[in-house]
Amino acid sequence: MRFGYFNDERREYVITQPDTPLPWMNYLGNEDYFAIISNTAGGYSFYQDARLRRITRYRYNNVPVDYGGRYIYIRDGATGKFWSPTWQPVRGELKKYVCRHGLGYSTISSVNRGIEATTRYFVPLGENLEIWDLSLTNQRDLPAELDLFSLIEFALWDAQDDATNFQRNFNTGEVEVEEGVIYHKTEYRERRDHFAYFACSEPVFGFDTQRADFLGPYRGWDDPIVVEKGAANNSIAHGWAPIGSHHIKVSLEPGQKHRIIFLLGYHENPQEAKFDPPDSQTINKQAAKHVISRYLDPNLVDNAFENLNLYWEQVLEVINVHTPDENTNRIVNIWNQYQCMVTFNLSRSASFFESGVGRGMGFRDSNQDLLGFIHMIPDRARQRILDIAATQLPDGGAYHQYQPLTKRGNDAVGSDFNDDPLWLVLAVTAYLKETGDRSLLDEPVPYDNQPGSEQHLYEHLQRSIRFTLDRLGQHDLPLIGRADWNDCLNLNTFSSEPGESFQTVEIHEGDTAESVFIAGLFVLAAREMAGLAAAQGLVNDADDYSDVAQRMENVVIKNGWDGEWFLRAYDNFGQEVGSHKCEQGQIFIEPQGICAMAGIGIGNGMAKKALESVTDRLATSHGIVLHQPAYTKYYLQLGEISSYPPGYKENAGVFCHTNPWIMIAETLQGNGDRAFDYYARNNPSAREGISDIHRCEPYVYAQMIAGWDAPTHGEAKNSWLTGTAAWNFVAITQWILGIRPTYDGLHLSPVIPQDWEGFKATRIFRGVTYNISVVREGLGNRVSLKVDGTHIDGDIVPIPSKGVEDVQVEVILT
Ligand code: BGC
Ligand code: NOJ
Repeated sequence: MRFGYFNDERREYVITQPDTPLPWMNYLGNEDYFAIISNTAGGYSFYQDARLRRITRYRYNNVPVDYGGRYIYIRDGATGKFWSPTWQPVRGELKKYVCRHGLGYSTISSVNRGIEATTRYFVPLGENLEIWDLSLTNQRDLPAELDLFSLIEFALWDAQDDATNFQRNFNTGEVEVEEGVIYHKTEYRERRDHFAYFACSEPVFGFDTQRADFLGPYRGWDDPIVVEKGAANNSIAHGWAPIGSHHIKVSLEPGQKHRIIFLLGYHENPQEAKFDPPDSQTINKQAAKHVISRYLDPNLVDNAFENLNLYWEQVLEVINVHTPDENTNRIVNIWNQYQCMVTFNLSRSASFFESGVGRGMGFRDSNQDLLGFIHMIPDRARQRILDIAATQLPDGGAYHQYQPLTKRGNDAVGSDFNDDPLWLVLAVTAYLKETGDRSLLDEPVPYDNQPGSEQHLYEHLQRSIRFTLDRLGQHDLPLIGRADWNDCLNLNTFSSEPGESFQTVEIHEGDTAESVFIAGLFVLAAREMAGLAAAQGLVNDADDYSDVAQRMENVVIKNGWDGEWFLRAYDNFGQEVGSHKCEQGQIFIEPQGICAMAGIGIGNGMAKKALESVTDRLATSHGIVLHQPAYTKYYLQLGEISSYPPGYKENAGVFCHTNPWIMIAETLQGNGDRAFDYYARNNPSAREGISDIHRCEPYVYAQMIAGWDAPTHGEAKNSWLTGTAAWNFVAITQWILGIRPTYDGLHLSPVIPQDWEGFKATRIFRGVTYNISVVREGLGNRVSLKVDGTHIDGDIVPIPSKGVEDVQVEVILT
């Protein structure tokens, strides 16, 4: 069952009924001002940091889930009936409803009682504000007299505090209203230098800023007293709950159209110019007013929207593929890249599944997000790498996260994840291969943000590798610490206290558990370091990294192999995890993927065998589950993984992030059919037809699809903010389609299904456009390459000489 359809030409997903199985989200904003918006206009906004600079309020565990949003009420003067043109919050019956989620904007249209209302929500590039661009059309035969009420609820900045500290917060709320603009200035009188504003292009007939006055006692967002009566109170909030609501009167002749623009924005003043007059407590609104007056002009709004579309046009130009599979084309060319931008911007901070008060930017997560982002805007990727690296600790270890507003690492979501530092190597080498910008390696970067501790980024990478080598266990495998990629495999935690967080509780003394996954990741990273050192002409370093990689490979082969697959780990007692000897959790996906990707066991057939085991034991029609058999009881020595009911999340769910590792590993085996088959099982567009089962958005990946042990097998959760986005992009573009940046040029090595006749692609790489055409002439993956009509040996298209802008590449597969 579907709840809408893709419009690829407009790059939109068009939702045709408001009551989707879950709120289907989109993101507005790309730089500093961000907003979450559902298909019924629910969601909230923030500046840079969803936790520390929340602009509008979201209520946790709310029902409906997306309640609280960017709402408009329309009240018919003749009958007093009112409705919401975005369906929520009033939820009356609409004659027509359409939500178009596009790239950086959402447009929600409806018709009710002969009034058509279309609101386009977006954040203009370079601005700290969102626009609600509302168009009303009277489709009636008679004139219409309408009362319109806008509504947002302000958050008192720190979302965590806002949601909990009522004894204080019910006293602090303050606003100003001037010329119809509502300014939210809680705490501005003391240490804050920022405020929010809510403006409207129409003359304002009235307004409200105190929630209780707008709603009336014992009422909710669905039936505010002010809307029912059709009259605002002009209330000024003192404490309690500041809101912003404009009352506007609109008269429309039959057929008449009218456009109204609302602006919700954020502004910071210099400390010394906070007040106007300077000795008053009144906000200095000069600069904000300037922005407001510009954006209340519809022409400027149209331009800004046009610019947003041009921006996306350019971003998506870098790679464009035309394969025989529509779902691949649509997801690769549009939605997967869009999702990679969102994960790059927000890491795991804010969605309807991530609270915005929990996690900031993850070290492990953001490094992986970069893999799907670097090609889009390399400069931003560069800065992100430097920001992440600056949180690295002097011993090479890492804070698990940092808050985007402060850019300082912290332990708030736990520490001692021993895989963390290695991901930095993958991000940096991916950046260097994409851009050729070696200057990055010479950037001085501090440790733990401490001035004076700066070393070249290359040194940071060396310390990342050293960090693992300094922490080997009794089988010479890397110690796992609190956990590795799988946050829930907590082999040193032994938590028996109800409610205790597995992620933050202190870990057991003598943490002897070892991880085969980290060993695989280490080999992958060390081989990347060897490649990088070679490219830098550092022959000794290259040899050293090849050696340590080889040594670790030997260890995995000796101590990390279970007979038919790679082991997962050794627990704190030296017992195997992920072995046929185990009662449950006999085989795990992660080491099969990462070890094979690292090249471990390619020569001796182990990798092949491991992948066969994945197919036999872990692959379901909804994707590959994390392990089997699922844990049916709690294991003290395994931790959070066994806390989930079977089939969910890390306990044998289809943890989508890991599936592309298997796809990549399959391509290394030359198995395009199987790699693509796995790709298609996860592809959200390919799952659109089962939206009633999948339930999450069909245009983006979700973190998890319930595994076959779960009663709701096939149901997705935690959409949007997941490493699944970046890794699927890497798997399909670099390994299945085989268009892979290297230090020396563009590598073309497709491993596609046998029944594909080929595909076409354009790829802009280091400023040159490669027009690629792949033609299958035989059933294998052997590449014969012609560049601008001339046959060249090998499968790497060398960087063309300066001045060349276009290159024609023909690939014959035999
Ligand atoms: C989740 C993991 C997540 C971790 C983050 C756990 O509860 O299952 O997926 O990575 O929390 O702290
Ligand atoms: C989600 C986390 O964001 C990620 O860092 C982790 O690797 C996976 N969960 C698996 O636990």
